[in-house]
Amino acid sequence: MPVDFEVQSTLHVGIIMDGNGRWATGRGLPRIMGHRAGVEAARRAVEAAPDAGIGILTLFAFSSDNWRRAPAEVDALMRLMAVYLENETTGCAARGVRLEVIGRRDRLDAKLCSAIAQAEAATAAGHRLWLRLAVDYSARDAILAAARGLRELSRDALERAMGPPVDLLIRTGGERRLSDFQLWESAYAELVFTPTMWPDFDASALAAAVREFRGRERRFGSVPQVPVYRQQAWLD
Ligand code: FPP
Repeated sequence: MPVDFEVQSTLHVGIIMDGNGRWATGRGLPRIMGHRAGVEAARRAVEAAPDAGIGILTLFAFSSDNWRRAPAEVDALMRLMAVYLENETTGCAARGVRLEVIGRRDRLDAKLCSAIAQAEAATAAGHRLWLRLAVDYSARDAILAAARGLRELSRDALERAMGPPVDLLIRTGGERRLSDFQLWESAYAELVFTPTMWPDFDASALAAAVREFRGRERRFGSVPQVPVYRQQAWLD
């Protein structure tokens, strides 16, 4: 992870893009149509992110537990991700979006692996938005892998080995759980759960979530900030 990436001082938003299947079945469509609409929503979120003040966007595209789904759905998701990467790489590079895929690669098919490698290489110079797609991703496995790579285990060393801390974690689709996503990085994330199904999540919904985040007081285990003159009064 490049610690000097210039967007590190801006907002890191993680999104659990849930609700594609229900969006589709509610319309009498096959689930895959929901995932297709979900890709469009992801495209919109990536485009809207910089204007919403987001410097790092981590999207949960495929969980390591999603292998349990029907093979046809898994297959369709893999193909959609490869097509997304192929279609978006040029535009991402032009808009300063650096694309990175996090998660395991060893269970992905060759076509997807080569689309990932190509997209990462072509967008490596992007500095406007750092887009991280989590594919075959499990936060618990990521923590284990990072810990295994350390010579000496300490909180600071593990912190450095993990990804950037998540400021705001959004989950669409009405569920209120983290589902093995960015567990270490979200230690102090603000959580926003919305009933909106992912395919309906648009730029204004993203802006609203960021507004909600900005309205929250983040204390990181401390106490509410008090004006300096009052602190002085207590000291006197
Ligand atoms: C959860 O909806 C969504 C997923 C498991 C996949 C998310 C994938 C995409 C949005 C497409 C790929 C994205 C990119 C950026 C290439 P669900 O199927 O669990 O919905 P449900 O809870 O309504 O069944």
